[in-house]
Amino acid sequence: MIRLGPLSKALLSQITAMALVLALLALGAFGHPPALGAAVVTQACFAPIIAKVLRSDRWWLWIHTLFPIAVAAASMLQIHSGWYLAAFLVFVLVFGPTVRSRVPLFLSSERTIEAVSELLAREVFSRQLHAQVLDFGSGTGSMPIGLARRHPQQNFDGIEAAWLPYLRSRLKAAGLSNVRLMRGDFWSLDLSPYMAVYAFLSTEPMPKLWQKVCREMQPGSIFISNSFRVPGVDPSEIVHVDDERETELLVYRIKPD
Ligand SMILES: C[S@@+](CC[C@H](N)C(=O)[O-])C[C@H]1O[C@@H](n2cnc3c(N)ncnc32)[C@H](O)[C@@H]1O
Repeated sequence: MIRLGPLSKALLSQITAMALVLALLALGAFGHPPALGAAVVTQACFAPIIAKVLRSDRWWLWIHTLFPIAVAAASMLQIHSGWYLAAFLVFVLVFGPTVRSRVPLFLSSERTIEAVSELLAREVFSRQLHAQVLDFGSGTGSMPIGLARRHPQQNFDGIEAAWLPYLRSRLKAAGLSNVRLMRGDFWSLDLSPYMAVYAFLSTEPMPKLWQKVCREMQPGSIFISNSFRVPGVDPSEIVHVDDERETELLVYRIKPD
């Protein structure tokens, strides 16, 4: 049996609903001239039903209901088509990698940066004069840049897949010599030079990420995950951050094999 991903299911739901609506239009079900509002509402009803049959997650059903209505409303505003293209390009530059990685862009709070800074000072920098620290998926660079300002003797790297956040991070880091920001895929980055790695991702990559961390990081180094646990592994420490999100930093110390 063919297994469809969430995006394929979404496309299939809208296209199948559209085919049914067009068939009803051809049969004159929406009157003469056709009542286009009724056609849009029919699309907004059919698409979530088909998505449910395809076992899409529940939140997709809302998207399928609202999408045809939003498209119809936007077309009434008569916005120049170039704006849609521009919005699409911005979206791709910020969220393009999310389609594959299923990790969207959201940023660590200032208080989390402060808490990570204190944690690193206590657990890493107190033992090692010069250490290298990595932010997995560094977004707009707030974490490595914030840490670099607080610890000028240490080196901080960030790697980000999406172009726009990456370019913004490069601008923000101008003039800081202890930050290195890379554009690329963290799955192909060697973790052996890092004494600490920070990740704020999602539940999706955690099992595979943990395997990579255990394979490549040195014993005694630490892996800090913002909010997302490694399934089946107890953190060696949990730091509670007093921010709006009530962030939890899950600290995993890498043990020898
Ligand atoms: C939740 S954001 C966190 C941003 C930043 N670390 C922070 O804490 O403010 C996760 C970022 O990881 C990036 N990302 C996801 N998968 C990636 C991959 N395989 N390689 C590099 N970056 C990735 C996403 O584009 C997104 O910007």
